[in-house]
Amino acid sequence: MTSDIDRIVQRIAADMAKEGERGKVADYIPGLAGVDPNQFGIAVATADGQVHVAGDGDTLFSIQSISKVFALTLALGKIGDALWRRVGREPSGTAFNSIVQLEQEHGIPRNPFINAGAIVVSDVVLAGHQPREAIGEIVRFVRQLAGDDSIVVDDEVARGEQATGFRNAALANYMRAFGNITHPIDQVLGVYFHQCALAMSCRQLALAGRYLMLDGKHPDTGYSIVSPMRARRINALMMLCGHYDGSGEFAFRVGMPGKSGVGGGILTIVPGIASIAAWSPGLNARGNSLIGSLALERLAAETGWSVFNPPVAP
Ligand code: DON
Repeated sequence: MTSDIDRIVQRIAADMAKEGERGKVADYIPGLAGVDPNQFGIAVATADGQVHVAGDGDTLFSIQSISKVFALTLALGKIGDALWRRVGREPSGTAFNSIVQLEQEHGIPRNPFINAGAIVVSDVVLAGHQPREAIGEIVRFVRQLAGDDSIVVDDEVARGEQATGFRNAALANYMRAFGNITHPIDQVLGVYFHQCALAMSCRQLALAGRYLMLDGKHPDTGYSIVSPMRARRINALMMLCGHYDGSGEFAFRVGMPGKSGVGGGILTIVPGIASIAAWSPGLNARGNSLIGSLALERLAAETGWSVFNPPVAP
């Protein structure tokens, strides 16, 4: 199977290079606007410890909202299920940066993956810290997950978003009015923008996601990052909310829990089998990677790894 996966990812990378329609690169964050849409990378980290990489799978990109998975894991580690008093667990059916539900729902965001929810998660991670320390904690955590100390934040992307993130500032202020943000807005947003600006490759991202395929265990150390139950629940949230108002379509076509980012990355998990990262900068109308989704649909079809397939004995 190992060499089969190599062959499959190589073929997918070759096919994705030929795709004409590549979507539109996010340009509302200054640091992302100039990224070449012709790039495509994929990496598959399997439960047996192999990593299969193809295309531009070692090129760094801005992970953006994919960071919300790691920040959520960290926040749950800090305050446990108390988090769910401040953030919901339902799909929103709205765009990632939407504000419309917050008024009716009294400042409680629908889930931790829409921007409003992730900003509450940042507020939790910030507690007891200076913003710099909280950012440092997130970076160290992601490095530990990936087993790679070279991972850093792209400060230019973070600064660009700080200068233009008016919607996020609106979300944060609005939630603060309901008492669901407890720290100064600029500090909370500082943490949020820096976590989004983490620069990672598909290889690093697939490695960082391994604990979610292994019931919460870090494969390098054997330590529990989260309990098996919590890992399953994070995967459930990724399946239902990870692609915003495109989550149904992604589940329909790919059938794996996944989290997208406006940098064009997608992290997907096949529990017990693989942690997968795909990246191509052009986005579809819902803000999710167009070619990345297509590649994952292809991978799911060729491997049978949709979580809705009957389990196959190894
Ligand atoms: O807050 C923002 O708008 C970005 N830092 C992250 C948005 C994002 O990645 C949405 N994902 N598709």
